[in-house]
Amino acid sequence: MVLKFLFLFLSLLLVLGWVQPSLGRESPSKKFQRQHMDSGNSPGNNTNYCNQMMKRRKMTRGWCKPVNTFVHESLEDVKAICSEKNITCKNGQYNCHQSNSTVNITDCRQTGSSRYPNCVYKTTKLQKRIIVACEGNVSMPVHLDASV
Ligand SMILES: *[C@@H]1O[C@H](CO)[C@@H](O)[C@H](O)[C@H]1NC(C)=O
Ligand SMILES: *[C@@H]1O[C@H](CO)[C@@H](O)[C@H](O)[C@H]1NC(C)=O
Ligand SMILES: *[C@@H]1O[C@H](CO)[C@@H](O)[C@H](O)[C@H]1NC(C)=O
Ligand SMILES: *[C@@H]1O[C@H](CO)[C@@H](O)[C@H](O)[C@H]1NC(C)=O
Ligand SMILES: *[C@@H]1O[C@H](CO)[C@@H](O)[C@H](O)[C@H]1NC(C)=O
Repeated sequence: MVLKFLFLFLSLLLVLGWVQPSLGRESPSKKFQRQHMDSGNSPGNNTNYCNQMMKRRKMTRGWCKPVNTFVHESLEDVKAICSEKNITCKNGQYNCHQSNSTVNITDCRQTGSSRYPNCVYKTTKLQKRIIVACEGNVSMPVHLDASV
């Protein structure tokens, strides 16, 4: 009896373990790339850049994400920031790293007249240093903490 329950319990754990990843749960690193990486691209003169990209990158589903930054550098260059010295993140964790030079970024900020589901953003091109939080054995950016 006890063994049977144990077996059922272990099976359940196994099933949950197998099913959960296949439900399409995005890894923190993939999420970072979806929300923040736009390598080799630039808004140029396109004032609609943020309106298009916030939608394309699924940040206007269920709500309008109010503020988001896109980084126009290679993923390799952004990963390399993880090997800069550790600094404290806004949330107090000690796994943040600041880029040693400025990078090309685009700030997207929701306008005052923006109302879900019609999310409207202002597009601002900037060259600033960025601060990213990194995680993992092969340290990968998982969060964009700030641009400074
Ligand atoms: C942006 O617009 C200016 C003036 O309208 C034009 O001179 C310039 O070539 C444009 N740049 C790009 C990348 O399209
Ligand atoms: C800056 O970072 C890049 C890669 O992130 C590295 O190759 C370079 O040596 C660094 N420069 C300094 C001055 O730390
Ligand atoms: C430094 O940051 C990395 C993530 O980039 C983290 O794995 C590591 O634990 C941090 N080091 C310390 C001493 O907290
Ligand atoms: C950033 O973009 C400018 C032009 O928009 C370019 O001249 C510069 O090389 C870029 N910087 C980096 C680090 O890619
Ligand atoms: C992380 O690295 C350690 C030692 O290098 C290794 O024992 C561990 O299995 C690795 N974990 C993952 C998830 O790759």
